[in-house]
Amino acid sequence: MDFINIALAKGRLGDEAYKLLKSKGLGESIDPNSRKLIFKDEEKKISFIYVKPWDVVTYVQNGVADLGVVGKDVILESDNDVYEILDLGFGKCKFSIAGVKGEKIYKKDEILRVATKYPKISEKFFDERGQKIKLIKLNGSVELAPLVGLSDVIVDLVETGKTLKANGLEVIEDMFDVSAKLICNRVSYRFKYERINNFIKCLREMEEKYREAN
Ligand code: PRP
Repeated sequence: MDFINIALAKGRLGDEAYKLLKSKGLGESIDPNSRKLIFKDEEKKISFIYVKPWDVVTYVQNGVADLGVVGKDVILESDNDVYEILDLGFGKCKFSIAGVKGEKIYKKDEILRVATKYPKISEKFFDERGQKIKLIKLNGSVELAPLVGLSDVIVDLVETGKTLKANGLEVIEDMFDVSAKLICNRVSYRFKYERINNFIKCLREMEEKYREAN
């Protein structure tokens, strides 16, 4: 039997995915405290790799991983050609525009300065609105940008809202909902159809239980 290879994102989503896999007896080979990047379950023939969230899509698209767990935000921002096969029901948050509390931000004919880790999503959104923008691409801590005058607004994930609140920012508008998705390589889906579908079946049961518990 072939291995199925699964890419998990390091960080919050990966931790949640690990908890859920473990509860179903699928993640026993993973040691979350280890610095190892590959965890093989020889008995169940499942191999997990831990990569940066933005690289999950790359590993799946190239077929190195058959499956991957990643947020909808990353899928939308990536140029990808993968199947999005299941909403896993965790990692729920909003994708939002935020700015300094009480400040009017829309500039009509003026250019709005937007700081974000997500240039593609932001460009598309404001283009559809007919709002001209200047994009400021950052790699993290985007909440800082409006505070120091680098941007008028940010476009980012909001989960608990604590980061915004701690920095005196507020949501101006929610753009869309985000959650964790299971993605699949198109070729793997054809050639490992049965194994992948068994895995999905297992995850579906987990997802239902998780929804009931939360
Ligand atoms: C994410 C996101 C926000 C924060 C939102 O950042 O980009 O900054 O979490 O979470 P909250 O609403 O629960 O406060 P992340 O922790 O990934 O770090 P980063 O800003 O360095 O990318």
